[in-house]
Amino acid sequence: MTRTVLSVTDLVAGYEPGVPIVRGASLTVREGEIVVVLGPNGAGKSSFIKAIAGLVPIFSGTVMLDDEEITKVPAHQLVRRGLAFVPQTENIFPLMSVEDNLKVAGGMLDRRDMTGRIEEMYGLFPDLRDKRRIAAGNLSGGQRQMVAVARALMVRPKLLVLDEPSAGLSPKFVSMVFHMLADIRKAGVTILLVEQNAKAALAIGDRACVLVEGRNAHEGRADALWDDPVVAELYLGRRHAAGPSASDKPMPEAQP
Ligand SMILES: Nc1ncnc2c1ncn2[C@@H]1O[C@H](COP(=O)(O)OP(=O)(O)O)[C@@H](O)[C@H]1O
Ligand SMILES: [Mg+2]
Repeated sequence: MTRTVLSVTDLVAGYEPGVPIVRGASLTVREGEIVVVLGPNGAGKSSFIKAIAGLVPIFSGTVMLDDEEITKVPAHQLVRRGLAFVPQTENIFPLMSVEDNLKVAGGMLDRRDMTGRIEEMYGLFPDLRDKRRIAAGNLSGGQRQMVAVARALMVRPKLLVLDEPSAGLSPKFVSMVFHMLADIRKAGVTILLVEQNAKAALAIGDRACVLVEGRNAHEGRADALWDDPVVAELYLGRRHAAGPSASDKPMPEAQP
């Protein structure tokens, strides 16, 4: 049986006491999986993964990382525990070079390990090697997301959590980001992902859950979810049997 990396049970979380935004959501992520959280705007997707990442107060429920409970562990300690979170925005230091971004992120590695890990990141993201002396803020949107993800991977997390990595990118870079996620999963990284771009996310995901008003409204295998007419019509903005609507962004090509 594959190891369960993340197990979230009946999570209730929000910004003010008595005002829950996440209202009893549950989720598991097994080793090597890509799990996608979908749902309409304002459903609480970002709040849900930020609560998991220690950035939004949890009122009740539990979060387990492997067999350690991390429900009350603050965000800055979670990196050390193996959970890396990539926020939707402000996820790089724009004025620092690409390489300095990686060095800061890998601050807790010893020098030898740091050098080796930076090399591994350049192996995974060859574009970044060429740009290593460039200020990260001067890269394309897609490359900036690579820097953000490489930063998160520096410390070899057990779980990589990302909030809408394709948001605001042009279609070409959207495709690049999804290819990148498929590649890093192949490299053995377990991924939890929030996405608006349902079609592309379900194409690379193993399982998905749809969050509505802070609760699980639907969940299942990613391919089955895309084919479920109720889910499609209600939550993914797609009329059943009509194929992707014009509002869908293009899907990345199938992985070899
Ligand atoms: N920092 C915050 N303080 C108070 N309320 C917030 C904050 N961030 C989000 N919310 C509220 O939480 C609800 C869910 O937001 P969010 O988790 O961002 O949804 P999603 O990511 O699914 O679009 C919204 O009603 C939003 O107004
Ligand atoms: Mg959001």
